[in-house]
Amino acid sequence: MKDQKLISKAREILNNNYQEKGFTIPCQGLYPFQWNWDSGFIAIGFAHFDMEKAKKEIKTLIDSQWSNGFIPHIIFHNESDTYFPGPEFHQSSLSPLVVNKIPTTGMTQPHVLGFMLERMYHIAENKEDITAFIKATIDAVYEYSLYFYKHRDPLDEGLVYIYHNWESGTDNSPIWDDVWNTMESPKYKFERRDTTHVDASQRPSNEEYNHYLHIIEIAKAHHYNDEKIAELSPFLIQDPLFNTVLIASNQSLIRLYELIGGNEDKIATLKQLTEKSIQSFNDKLYDEELKAYCHYDLRNKKLLRYVSSSSFAPLFAEIPDQKRADELVGTLMDKFGNEDQYMCASFDPTHERYKPKQYWRGPVWINLNWLLYHGLNKYGYNAIAQRVKDDSIEILEKNGFYEYFDARKEEHQNNTAGYGGNNFSWSAALLIDLLSE
Ligand code: GLC
Repeated sequence: MKDQKLISKAREILNNNYQEKGFTIPCQGLYPFQWNWDSGFIAIGFAHFDMEKAKKEIKTLIDSQWSNGFIPHIIFHNESDTYFPGPEFHQSSLSPLVVNKIPTTGMTQPHVLGFMLERMYHIAENKEDITAFIKATIDAVYEYSLYFYKHRDPLDEGLVYIYHNWESGTDNSPIWDDVWNTMESPKYKFERRDTTHVDASQRPSNEEYNHYLHIIEIAKAHHYNDEKIAELSPFLIQDPLFNTVLIASNQSLIRLYELIGGNEDKIATLKQLTEKSIQSFNDKLYDEELKAYCHYDLRNKKLLRYVSSSSFAPLFAEIPDQKRADELVGTLMDKFGNEDQYMCASFDPTHERYKPKQYWRGPVWINLNWLLYHGLNKYGYNAIAQRVKDDSIEILEKNGFYEYFDARKEEHQNNTAGYGGNNFSWSAALLIDLLSE
């Protein structure tokens, strides 16, 4: 009964955020357009009760694909004056690779599309219909995967870089502070919009915004050319979450191609890439002392030695062997598993940079929990997985469908520990998926 009430509320949120043009905004005001990885999570929420909308969500995202396979992070389907920086700042039309004329950003986000497509297949009751949809879309998703290895892997390691913190999905992580400390960005004149929707103390500073804009200006000056970006961007990071998600999508694509038949060459390419990626991932991104996966700064040639929720994402794509997974889960429970905390804080709660209310500097996010839940189950950590799931449901039930939540249980006494955007689409979508397990 309780679950049914939560599910109907979640469905209502998704339906309200769904737009006529066939995509779903993450939430009103703060995020009024289509976001790449949000769409993936949203689609699996819809898949449980309105498959047509789920398919439409994926289709509108894929329609924004560039001729080199790239799929952008925001698609500005409509005008809005509640968001900065909007289409007139990003100017995607500078790139000669743009096909669809709808303005977008010139950066991307974690590639969840492959495994979202597979999840939709499993959820669908009408297998014939979903198979037809997969046949019609899978090659675009495959080209998106290949784009990364062709254009974002300068050392040919099978590990791809992101060139902007907004590509990571974990936009305001304290890990990026190390990069900001290497940069001297101009002071731009701009008017923030995010801080009119959300308490400014939870959001990045204007100084940080100068860095964000500066990187984009560099990319724009070179018409979003990847080779130039690799050469010039001060931000060039191999992110464990981003690479995990890409590998997981490739693994799903392999299974989906096998399911629909044919395509042996694509399957072979994906298998070869995946194997190489996993090898390099384990060689390069694991810190033996921290016993955790970390981010590698390609520009400054060093591992950024911090533990965050991204450190545990590799479980989702079965990147560590069992022994390393055991060690990793040990780190998870030591640092993030205290009984007075909800799992899983987005940044190491024992670290001085931990800020429990600040956007990606500490709070719990439902999408990272969803990845962690599935990852833990893959290694037999079912009880911890269950705790991650129960915690996710409990914080949503207590506080509402917010964007992020305080990890400290004591802050939840008055049910006001949900922060950021409210009626947030992926929180709703993933709740539906978790409760339908
Ligand atoms: C924030 C998050 C990002 C998300 C976007 C829209 O910028 O950091 O991951 O995609 O909001 O929800």
